[in-house]
Amino acid sequence: MEQPEDPSAEESVPERVVWQEFNVPWRFPVVFTRNAFAPGNDALATALRSFGPVAVFPVADSGVTEANGGLAEDVATYAACHCDVLRLVSPLHVLPGGERCKNGPGQVEILHRLFHRHQLCRHSVVLAIGGGAFLDVVGYAAATAHRGLRLVRLPTTTLAQSDAGIGVKNGYNAFGRKNWVGTFAPPFAVVNDFQFLHTLPLRQRRAGLAEAVKVAVIKDGDFFHLLSAKHRELALLEPGLLEETIIRCAMLHLQHVAAGDPFEKGSARPLDFGHWSGHALEEASGGEILHGEAVAMGMALDCLYAAEKGLMTEEEGDAILGLLRDLGFRLFHPLLAGLDLQAALDRFRQHLGGGLSITLPVGIGCRTELHQLDPEALHRARRRLMSLPLKRRESS
Ligand SMILES: NC(=O)c1ccc[n+]([C@@H]2O[C@H](COP(=O)([O-])OP(=O)(O)OC[C@H]3O[C@@H](n4cnc5c(N)ncnc54)[C@H](O)[C@@H]3O)[C@@H](O)[C@H]2O)c1
Ligand SMILES: [Zn+2]
Repeated sequence: MEQPEDPSAEESVPERVVWQEFNVPWRFPVVFTRNAFAPGNDALATALRSFGPVAVFPVADSGVTEANGGLAEDVATYAACHCDVLRLVSPLHVLPGGERCKNGPGQVEILHRLFHRHQLCRHSVVLAIGGGAFLDVVGYAAATAHRGLRLVRLPTTTLAQSDAGIGVKNGYNAFGRKNWVGTFAPPFAVVNDFQFLHTLPLRQRRAGLAEAVKVAVIKDGDFFHLLSAKHRELALLEPGLLEETIIRCAMLHLQHVAAGDPFEKGSARPLDFGHWSGHALEEASGGEILHGEAVAMGMALDCLYAAEKGLMTEEEGDAILGLLRDLGFRLFHPLLAGLDLQAALDRFRQHLGGGLSITLPVGIGCRTELHQLDPEALHRARRRLMSLPLKRRESS
């Protein structure tokens, strides 16, 4: 006997796709100033003015407060003088800074408790004063409390003022890996106060220059030649030149993010030139090698590899390594000799998502993306790096 036909059997399941689409434009000021908490300095108040009178939770890196006695009083006095714009919900809180503060979630939990205790809401401002590591942790805590508090950063190191403190990323280290936990969350304002650089230990002050060499090599040949021409004054960390270098480096970073892929949806990450092995070195050293120092070694390795592969001439490679050495960077560390380069590349690929994409310089001022590296050439580049003199050039 014939089965009665099921009338719905032939009908396809209706498919309805509704595309959701929106853009969220971002605009925030990056200010360069001096003595940001002097009552007459309007930079911070101006940055906050558009929010109306706003509740502000101030928190500082302990390295900064130890070297700048009276900072808590200065912040309180500043708030009193600008009470039409900001109201402090508490005196300045001080928490540890440096790489250790971003190892694991401990400091994030402390910050969340403080935000909760002071009843911060999404309209409140977290004012974070400190180095790149501290800003990364406070930024993550602020981005994840109530799904995002307003963050105003006051970077206090060379590296944070020219790179780490002006961008859109935050996070902390987990599973022994740099920045394994983190979000993309732009700040509401950045106020770079050059005065803080005067209390920064020389080693940290110098380390940030690696990021300036980085953007110069991959994006701006003129900037590279300027850095080379002024390497003596820069190596002495002459304040005026250091400030100019920070501003130009910051502008190159800001322009790159605005023109490119701010939330890093693709795999290319040009601003991470020198970072694939740099991050691995930082991890292997447990933070003993500073971020900038590790990036300098990473760039040296990548430049020697680029020269091996004909992407730059020997002379161009020498000029880049020479500048790094002249600025006072060591280009080799015993940990680099034992580093598993393939494993470091694999970990970098995983962090990028998708395929491997390594930015390498092409000459000076241009770049390319490679999706695989030749292991033999990489080992040769490392051996060459090991055999190079550690000292600065005598004259140039
Ligand atoms: N989020 C990003 O886009 C981004 C980009 C680059 C680097 N980073 C991160 O930034 C970190 C490195 O930052 P950093 O180079 O600023 O170092 P840092 O934050 O580790 O600070 C270095 C040391 O200097 C102290 N310090 C800071 N300012 C001071 C001052 N004015 N006077 C005296 N002491 C001061 C700190 O307490 C710390 O002990 C790394 O963790 C790196 O991964 C983040
Ligand atoms: Zn970096």
